[in-house]
Amino acid sequence: MCSQTRLQTSANSKMDDDAIMALIESRPWTQGLYRKQNWGNNLHSLAPYVGRIKPAFAHWLIRTCTSRGDKVLDPFCGIGTVPLEADLMSRRAVGVDLNPYAVAISRAKFDRRPIEEALNWLRRADVNSTLEIPEDVPSWVQEYYDPKTLAEILLLRDLMIEDDQHFLLGCLLGIAHGHRPQYLSVRTGYIIPYMPSPKPEAQYRSVVDALIRKAKRTYRTPFALKTSGKIIQADSRKLPLEDDSVDAVISSPPYFDTLDYVSSNKLRLALMGIYGEDQEKLRTDLMQNRSTYIRQMETVGTELLRVLRRGSFCVLVLGDVHGSGRSLRTADEIFGLYSDLGFRLVGCVADEIPPEKTTIVKFNGEDGIRSRQSRRKYDRILVLRTPD
Ligand SMILES: C[S@@+](CC[C@H](N)C(=O)[O-])C[C@H]1O[C@@H](n2cnc3c(N)ncnc32)[C@H](O)[C@@H]1O
Repeated sequence: MCSQTRLQTSANSKMDDDAIMALIESRPWTQGLYRKQNWGNNLHSLAPYVGRIKPAFAHWLIRTCTSRGDKVLDPFCGIGTVPLEADLMSRRAVGVDLNPYAVAISRAKFDRRPIEEALNWLRRADVNSTLEIPEDVPSWVQEYYDPKTLAEILLLRDLMIEDDQHFLLGCLLGIAHGHRPQYLSVRTGYIIPYMPSPKPEAQYRSVVDALIRKAKRTYRTPFALKTSGKIIQADSRKLPLEDDSVDAVISSPPYFDTLDYVSSNKLRLALMGIYGEDQEKLRTDLMQNRSTYIRQMETVGTELLRVLRRGSFCVLVLGDVHGSGRSLRTADEIFGLYSDLGFRLVGCVADEIPPEKTTIVKFNGEDGIRSRQSRRKYDRILVLRTPD
């Protein structure tokens, strides 16, 4: 279905559907400055996430399918790429995700205050008030840090939560681990906390100094301090939103079980106090089970039909999935399901993904994260509309 770049639309399609599909087919996010991975506001780079979409890609989908003032929902918002870009483009953004780490980063992007306020909070924080590491912090977490650094991280985290310093908490999680001196851990992967072997010696890093640098870097690109954007931690199978209250949905849902949003974020989740059984529970709550995926996406589709106004766009970015010697076109599966629910197909565009960007993450054991290159070559942009 999605192999053609263009599909027949139903008889009642609107004139502007053609113009919209023509613009999406021209893939403007692959051209000029938009091609750059780091295009856009520095807030987008607050922290990493597996499966994050490019800000320029989000920008063009929002620009093509929505207007100023529209309420734009991303029901699988991850670290908030779509809500942030929608907000920067004067839409009313709503993001929903069930993963607490993703929600913390998304919320950080909407906690807008003058930089001096954040810096003063940091300068006032008394990081020497305790240098104890709480007993329940797992030993595998402690392996990543010098003890004083970890004690400062945990103390600052508690103070930030107490004082609703969402932006600073996002900064802290953003620099929690990585491969350069500005990160707080031993040298690890930035997105996934691969521990090198042999394990390097951990160095002390002043967490407050590193946070001040991170906050200043983030504020280098301007953004409005006033925002109507909202991030909700919830399950998209049961959206806490009113009927007929949303003007457009733009989202990249999970594709079957391709990515594990818990294992890949296990260290950052642990620094939020979520480890052991809590991580296991989160893994079962998130939609990342191949055998239940279709039924769960059907429930989400029913919810999207309920909250979307009539004639609204629902744009879903869905990758092909490979495994056990066969390929699955997620977009075809979802199209079949959603047309049965009453959505109308506007079109489907294949977006070729460069090979270096097609990492699939595989896991084994407590600390056995490893990755390999997948054969997925395309994301499919499925453009649907609710009935008129
Ligand atoms: C492909 S990622 C989205 C990435 C996002 N577009 C970004 O740029 O960061 C899919 C997201 O779906 C979330 N998710 C999985 N099951 C969910 C559910 N039942 N309800 C809400 N979110 C869920 C995962 O936590 C993950 O963040």
